[in-house]
Amino acid sequence: MNTKLWREIDNYYEKLLLPPDERFDLIQESVNNAGMPEIAISPLYGRLMEILMKTSGISQVLEIGTLGGFSTAWLAQGLPPEGKLISLEIDQERAELARKNLEAFGFGNQVEIREGDALQLMVEMIQTDQDPFDMIFIDGDKSQYPEYLDLSIQLSRPGTLIIADNVIKHGRVFNRQIDSPGQKGIIRFHEKVASDPRLEGSVIQTVGKKGHDGMSFIRVVQTTPTNR
Ligand code: DHB
Ligand code: MG
Repeated sequence: MNTKLWREIDNYYEKLLLPPDERFDLIQESVNNAGMPEIAISPLYGRLMEILMKTSGISQVLEIGTLGGFSTAWLAQGLPPEGKLISLEIDQERAELARKNLEAFGFGNQVEIREGDALQLMVEMIQTDQDPFDMIFIDGDKSQYPEYLDLSIQLSRPGTLIIADNVIKHGRVFNRQIDSPGQKGIIRFHEKVASDPRLEGSVIQTVGKKGHDGMSFIRVVQTTPTNR
């Protein structure tokens, strides 16, 4: 495994393709200074989601797991002027930092950070007739991915794109010696995708500065329960 090469290639393409923007560096710095984990998505991955959003006219987005707001800022960049992004964060310190960061970034009006347990916040959205989202980015507690998925379908319209982060985690999903709640959550998540006729899914493996990982892309075909 040539992890050094993966990192160098990520750095090369970041420099080549991404416009320099110190606002992203400031978010990373704020997360480091607060002693929070460096587990945000890579910049190229953020740019990929921004491009996907812009090319498919995505304007209403839900993010599960904010941390310091790094991925949130990339998603916000993909929004049209009238678009909106709601990001859910269970940790108060992280939510406050993310709010500050998004404000400084210039997306304070389009981004709302909601603090609390994502499952509970999603149930509240369903109960209060939240308009369906065009895209949902799942990046919270890995053990809860199956439950995030169930509620995400209820917050979707036919055609909603669901992206899930960290679905490979250095191959841990395939290591039967490991038996962690996170690993189980990721496995159950994909079993659900496979068995639910309302969903179409795919997974891509990635290597880069975050090591070996991957993401799932799921299209919600229909939202109403089927007879199966
Ligand atoms: C890790 C990475 C992530 O992107 C995440 O959402 C959670 C944990 C990790 O590397 O541990
Ligand atoms: Mg993640």
